Amino acid sequence: MPNDQPVRYDRHGEIAVITVANPPVNALGLAVRQGLWAAMDRFDADDARIAVIVGEGALFLGGADIREFGKPPVAPHLPDVCDRIEAAVKPVIAAVHGPALGGGCEVALGAHYRLAVTGARFGFPEVHLGLIPGAGGSQRMPRLTGVAPALEMMCSGAPISAPRALEIGLIDRVAEGDPRKAGIAYAGELLAEGAGVRRTGALPCPTHDAAAFAEARAAWAKKAKGQVAPLVAIDAVEAATRMDLAEGIKEERRLFLDLMQTPQRAGMIHAFFNDRKVSKLPELQGISPRPLDRIGVIGGGTMGAGIATACLLAGLPVTLIERDAASADKARATITGNLDAAVKRGKLKDAAATLSGLSTATDYAALSDVDLVIEAVFEDMGVKKEVFTQLDAVLKPGAILATNTSYLDVTEIAAATSRPQDVIGLHFFSPAHVMKLLEVVVPETTAKDVTATAFALAKRLKKTAVKAGVCDGFIGNRILATYRGAADRMILGGATPWEIDAAIKDFGLPMGPFEMGDLAGLDIGFMTRARKAATRDPRDIVPIWADEMYHKGWLGQKTGQGYYTYEGRKGTPNEAVMPLIETAREGRPQQAFTPEMIQRRYMAAMVNEAAKVVGEGIAARPLDVDVTLLYGYGFPRWRGGPMLWADTEGLPGLLADIQGWAKDDPYFWQPAPLLEQLVAEGRTFSDLNEATS
Ligand code: COA
Repeated sequence: MPNDQPVRYDRHGEIAVITVANPPVNALGLAVRQGLWAAMDRFDADDARIAVIVGEGALFLGGADIREFGKPPVAPHLPDVCDRIEAAVKPVIAAVHGPALGGGCEVALGAHYRLAVTGARFGFPEVHLGLIPGAGGSQRMPRLTGVAPALEMMCSGAPISAPRALEIGLIDRVAEGDPRKAGIAYAGELLAEGAGVRRTGALPCPTHDAAAFAEARAAWAKKAKGQVAPLVAIDAVEAATRMDLAEGIKEERRLFLDLMQTPQRAGMIHAFFNDRKVSKLPELQGISPRPLDRIGVIGGGTMGAGIATACLLAGLPVTLIERDAASADKARATITGNLDAAVKRGKLKDAAATLSGLSTATDYAALSDVDLVIEAVFEDMGVKKEVFTQLDAVLKPGAILATNTSYLDVTEIAAATSRPQDVIGLHFFSPAHVMKLLEVVVPETTAKDVTATAFALAKRLKKTAVKAGVCDGFIGNRILATYRGAADRMILGGATPWEIDAAIKDFGLPMGPFEMGDLAGLDIGFMTRARKAATRDPRDIVPIWADEMYHKGWLGQKTGQGYYTYEGRKGTPNEAVMPLIETAREGRPQQAFTPEMIQRRYMAAMVNEAAKVVGEGIAARPLDVDVTLLYGYGFPRWRGGPMLWADTEGLPGLLADIQGWAKDDPYFWQPAPLLEQLVAEGRTFSDLNEATS
């Protein structure tokens, strides 16, 4: 076969080497499946005595080609390719390096012998795409390892190392070095031993481990949080315990194809591709980031300490500035606590070594050699401007000045310096060393390579960065303020806070808005309302019952009562809130709200504001909103994001609902011009993603 083919066949003496070369990840698209099929035909026909399958590039095989999902499948199908490999009359070895994922793992299971070089990983990540293994994996793996390890891998989607794969019997040996060489050496040994074919599918059904199934079902019913695939994976593995291979593969295929039709599969694949598209901004193509070797952090409170922790965990040395030695010591203690907790969670080995990257100081002069400073002081324009003036005086030319603000005007902060081109907003989410989202807030004055550096920093910190324009609350908090507003309006219209929380959790969010308020502290909402009071439109409503709660000192979890009363962290509805709400409801029409009505209004408010955010260019594309809500606000990944939800529900119906609610509350339910435009043009948010990516 010529060299530009995705699957090559060559000979090393009596050994056939079948190489998959389909960059970037050797996905098993149609051409690769056809190539593997042809290679097996050739192996059958020629005088090679044994074959080795290897992957070229960084990994073995990255799994099925996800871009083909949702389209009609074209033969040869992957299960048939795996069967074809297993059916070979001469032995076949899979020599794995790097990840062997999903279909890649299944190809290895189709082979008769499996070798992995150090650094190889085996995984079934299909659940992260709303699917289960679909090419015999759920039937072959438990025949080799027993059901418990198969359940663990297929329900969690987490990969395992080569030594672990050896330990559970998934593979036959671990070798060092180049997979092709190691595979050829293994083939030589097997030939010398006269080893024959060894079909996994011919092994007896694994024992029905009732305890393992019961345990997995109980655990995943809780952990899956509305996601169906992990529970279906358990059904597939269970099929392996009572069906022969051919029957089991049919059953697995049936379950797989059912999942392929679900909105969850569509949602998770939407999220998979968005994860990769979100950092690819057309305006940053070809722009190199500035160097990032040393970071400064101003302020060692919860946010500053969290940001410093995130940087230290990424191996970036940090100089943290506090106002006095006692505050600096306190910040160091917070960071030490964060690192110790990371060790406990298994995320870090050596807390002391990581902490050695931290230095603290009280004088801004200590920042003279840093490449980027993140200011995390009090959210007050005057205080921030003061800090930026000082930074301007000490930082070296080309250093980046970043503000960690959640709503302030970054353009105004930039204007307080002599170098607005070097100023940018980096909105971290709390706890900053845990939460994945980083909103990169870009004033028009910011230089492109500064934005590119912010994205490079996010990558170093293993965070997902989303570019946002300047407005109150940027993308996430601006949208949050609106759907919180919808929840308050539903309370005034007759819903209770607990009905709303329950409906929102049913939808798939980890918490409802009122539980969230209790967790964050109800003083935060009060302060925000106070801040906005001067500019509030007279037609807007104020949740006066919430102000009452604040004045009573009911601040949520930290005071033991808010919308819930707390024993530890467990809350029960605080009925004492109802009289305050009743007072606020006086003179307003009341109605009963079903969970579906609550979810629809909440989501409609979210989508309508998001459409304004996209329409105004605060978010570049609908997908930027989807990623923001997923990584910063607990939106369920299996729903893809609010914009995908809106497309799936249908934009015309959503707009009609908004227009209907606008009859009673025209101020709040002003339809987004972009939503009206898309409906008029018969287009969707997904169309807009396509047009702008
Ligand atoms: N099918 C189609 N395209 C895929 C793919 C797959 N299975 N896996 C990755 N890609 C694409 C990505 O979209 C990306 O495309 P882009 O450059 O146009 O954005 C490119 O390959 C590189 O992927 P990326 O994730 O950026 O590379 P990485 O080196 O960081 O990670 C993997 C490589 C294989 C670990 C990772 O891509 C992955 O987990 N892929 C999904 C594997 C999977 O779920 N397989 C089972 C399918 S059922």
